[in-house]
Amino acid sequence: MAKENTALVLGASRGLGFALVEEWLGRGWRVIATARGRSAELEALASRYPASLLIETVDINNVETVRALRARLSGRPLDVLFVNAGIARAIEESPASAAEADFLDMMLTNAFSPVRAVELLRDRVVDDGTIAIMTSELGSIANAQGFWQLYSSSKAALNALMKGYAGKHAEDRHALLLVAPGWVRTEMGGGDALLSIEESIPLVVDMVEANRGKPGLRYLDRFNQPLPW
Ligand SMILES: NC(=O)c1ccc[n+]([C@@H]2O[C@H](COP(=O)([O-])OP(=O)(O)OC[C@H]3O[C@@H](n4cnc5c(N)ncnc54)[C@H](OP(=O)(O)O)[C@@H]3O)[C@@H](O)[C@H]2O)c1
Repeated sequence: MAKENTALVLGASRGLGFALVEEWLGRGWRVIATARGRSAELEALASRYPASLLIETVDINNVETVRALRARLSGRPLDVLFVNAGIARAIEESPASAAEADFLDMMLTNAFSPVRAVELLRDRVVDDGTIAIMTSELGSIANAQGFWQLYSSSKAALNALMKGYAGKHAEDRHALLLVAPGWVRTEMGGGDALLSIEESIPLVVDMVEANRGKPGLRYLDRFNQPLPW
């Protein structure tokens, strides 16, 4: 019998994270999905997939919740760890106009906490498994033009932190992916975004699966094409 794959998706209560969970369940995977609180959407999905979906509670900014999850994952090897959680604040602002707290919140949630979660959970990922983090096309410093300036800086910081992580763990065989999903209609992306969730997430999952067994860090769009750092 073929081995069942397992994915852990951090930040799966709604939007792209929820869609990742639904996509992998539809492909016959086991999925561990985390939310900060109760998610009616995830609970409804668990009743459709009682044997293959496990819901856990994690706030990536609360390190104790990440450590507690790590302990509960003992003996449950992961094929994919996908950190999806993220926030966007003060999207029209610049450093001259933004509330400092908004920028600090994004740096914590979008950059520091995801990489901390990766550090804490990396030994739960199988040797040839994949660690993916949702970044953004806006994380590219080379392409930056001021759109969502503060958010975009937090995703550039995420990319930089993962570059450092890859250097420190150069002996690991994990595929390390910084994933740019396109501009998608979610609560964060808004109604003007170019893509539906269905136009993005199946391609994201294809791309993550295509990178299995390919060690090293890559910054990729949903078509598996490299983006300029
Ligand atoms: N939509 C786009 O166009 C787009 C484009 C590029 C990149 N992205 C990235 O894709 C990811 C998902 O975005 P989305 O559009 O689906 O946004 P969304 O609809 O606002 O959903 C954000 C998700 O992140 C979770 N989250 C936020 N802070 C968290 C924390 N401290 N701990 C755990 N979970 C947390 C939220 O949980 P709660 O329900 O508890 O708030 C929610 O599940 C983000 O990293 C975003 O930056 C989105």
